Amino acid sequence: MSTPLRLQVKIEEFTLGAGTFSLKDISFELARGEALVVLGPSGAGKSTLLKVVDGLYKDFKGEILLNGRDIRKLTPRDIYSQMGLLFQNPEDQLFAETVFEDIAFGPRNMGWSEEDIRSAVRRALSLVHLDGFEERKIDTLSFGEKKRVALAGLLAMGQEILLLDEPTSGLDPLLEKNFIACLNNLKKTGVSFVIATHNVDMVPYFADKILLLVDGKGCLLGSPNDILTKGDLENYKLRPPLITQLFKSFEEKIPYLPLTVEEGRALLLEVLCKDSKSRTR
Ligand SMILES: Nc1ncnc2c1ncn2[C@@H]1O[C@H](COP(=O)(O)OP(=O)(O)OP(=O)(O)O)[C@@H](O)[C@H]1O
Ligand SMILES: [Mg+2]
Repeated sequence: MSTPLRLQVKIEEFTLGAGTFSLKDISFELARGEALVVLGPSGAGKSTLLKVVDGLYKDFKGEILLNGRDIRKLTPRDIYSQMGLLFQNPEDQLFAETVFEDIAFGPRNMGWSEEDIRSAVRRALSLVHLDGFEERKIDTLSFGEKKRVALAGLLAMGQEILLLDEPTSGLDPLLEKNFIACLNNLKKTGVSFVIATHNVDMVPYFADKILLLVDGKGCLLGSPNDILTKGDLENYKLRPPLITQLFKSFEEKIPYLPLTVEEGRALLLEVLCKDSKSRTR
């Protein structure tokens, strides 16, 4: 049985404001449990794309189907029950006085019981490593904490599609690692993701596909391997993961280019073993 498609996106054109910026020729599909990463330089249109996909702007040419239904015909409540957007700036997302009230807002709007809301908030805070933060005032939180509270607001809702704009900005390396583990666990349960990020070193740990966006235009769509080992990423004002960059200097001597430190370590061992065997012959 084929995997059901959660999102089918075809944006022929969408122009912002007084014609200052346009998205063009963007097309991708997202299946259950898949993660698509949107890469592109600053100002490429990543945040704008996520907002269009979330149904916040409807005057685009093309079609977006959410679980097979035209997003323009869905109510905000229909959309919100299936898909959530993490804004790039958590200040645009958080509005309540306390952490609990903010995270509880979505589930309460959906008519959940107080008991279910309390346990969903507790579970979501635990997933972002903010256990016990319920009564903290939002305006006393650090940027990274605000970002995680905003993410917990989505996780409490349990939507099946999450659009995450720079989810790891403001996170320290350990929290970033925890975030990747949390995301991969959610993928296994069937949650699908569209993630805009500049953090290219982290992308191979969870991406199934990458969309390259430049000046609003969908330039390339492919697997992490296809996109991140391309020789001309600098022309798109991007770079490959650092480990890929390092191994690129020895490209003619190695069988493939690693995308992660773990792949790099395995490749080095392979090459070193081969080398020592040939020397002992
Ligand atoms: N409401 C708006 N009206 C007019 N132009 C806008 C508006 N919002 C964003 N822009 C412009 O649209 C372009 C794309 O912005 P967007 O925020 O989508 O880029 P981005 O790829 O997310 O960048 P970054 O990596 O810096 O977050 C930018 O040039 C921005 O200045
Ligand atoms: Mg952005």
